[in-house]
Amino acid sequence: MAVTDDITSSSSSKSTKPAVTSEFNPISFIEKKKHGIAHSQTEIHDWVNGVMSGTVADYQLSAWMMAVCLKGLSEDETFYLTEAFVNSGEILSVEGIEGTFVDKHSTGGVGDKTTLVVVPLLAAMGLKVAKLSGRGLGFTGGTIDKLEAIPGFKVSQTTQAMKDQLQQIGAVLSSQTGDLAPADALFYALRDVTATVDNLSLIAASVVSKKIASGADVIVLDIKVGRGAFMKTLTEAKALASLCRTIGVRFGKRLETVISSMNQPLGSAIGHTVEILEVVETLKGNGSADLEYLCLALASVACVSAGLFPTTQTAWVALKEKLYNGDAYRKFEEIVQAQGGDVEALDPEAAAMPQPARMATIMAPSSGYVHQIDSMKVAKAVKMLGGGRSKKEDVLDLSVGVQLHHKVGDFVEAGEVLARVLTGKHHFNEAIKTLKSAFQLSEVPMDGMPELILDSSLPLFSHHNEH
Ligand code: URA
Repeated sequence: MAVTDDITSSSSSKSTKPAVTSEFNPISFIEKKKHGIAHSQTEIHDWVNGVMSGTVADYQLSAWMMAVCLKGLSEDETFYLTEAFVNSGEILSVEGIEGTFVDKHSTGGVGDKTTLVVVPLLAAMGLKVAKLSGRGLGFTGGTIDKLEAIPGFKVSQTTQAMKDQLQQIGAVLSSQTGDLAPADALFYALRDVTATVDNLSLIAASVVSKKIASGADVIVLDIKVGRGAFMKTLTEAKALASLCRTIGVRFGKRLETVISSMNQPLGSAIGHTVEILEVVETLKGNGSADLEYLCLALASVACVSAGLFPTTQTAWVALKEKLYNGDAYRKFEEIVQAQGGDVEALDPEAAAMPQPARMATIMAPSSGYVHQIDSMKVAKAVKMLGGGRSKKEDVLDLSVGVQLHHKVGDFVEAGEVLARVLTGKHHFNEAIKTLKSAFQLSEVPMDGMPELILDSSLPLFSHHNEH
């Protein structure tokens, strides 16, 4: 891969920044999209450069993004937008480090801690992973916030520190630097507050531009679909997956997609400290079946795409061994240690991570089968407790969260614990009420178990429900 020592001095043939052409008129540009007329590459580059330089105002960008939501962007326009995002910043590259660089991204979910399992797992296989993650967004949890539950863990890394760590242990978990695809951050901040998040082209440009800018050779996208995801239907998720793959190919990258359900939270923990503890258990081979399954699926797709194995089946077997022989957990410990984190704190007995003020339990009101655990409601409850942000500046309570004792399909007796709630000082009663309403029980068993993985661009080895 292309390489420089300094993130801010990296260049690529694609990163020449065209200046805004003199005849460019933002109002005519918005007008065009209002009437569903396609933009040219130059116009889209001018637009993004105008946003970056401040000549395009926030209200103009908001108006255009709403027009995009109503009229859409073509595949060409989506590619030009992605390209303009990439060109707005630098391309991270790490000189002199041998190996295949892999990146994995999720479109955002509830209880989604797959990154923290998949990164050490892939590094334990000898792949290089420089994972740049974000903070929580809307109802979704952020990997960087979760890592801050580990005492001492430094989420912000200099390029040189990232490079040294990659050389020594093959993986680094860092916060997204402002140098990579900075235009996306400007667009995203407005999308969040103008109801323009859930447009396929805007999401594809946002996600793919960051992955291209992070310099990975192999990219695996986990596209979430369902109640706790931006994509609500499988049709939409498939369209997004296909668009992302097409854009990836136009950048000359190997980009694979997995579509996974977000109808119920992933794994059993939702919150920051509790999710770190669940990651530790999963890396030791004691994880929830659904979380382990999705992590192995994403990692095996990455391994095949990187050319390590001919099929996901062979990759799966090798990855599972790394999970069960302790290699993946040891790699996680190495990452934590290298980034200043207290490895001893990963032991739940040490109680060295943020501790909740109180605990409560949600009991089954009657005997029956769990038909639904609404991810969105669970996320809302955790947010009410202080585990999510309403404004960017909000300080999170990393100790709060929910531990599910049952998942969809389970039978429970009346009075059995459905979930444990770790609470702080905020909105305790409201959160409990919301959480209770997330569970739907029925006397009749489910008519078949819900699928976790709904689609994969590479054929997968085994089926979750056969485990
Ligand atoms: N995640 C991103 O990074 N961007 C989006 O637009 C949606 C999810």
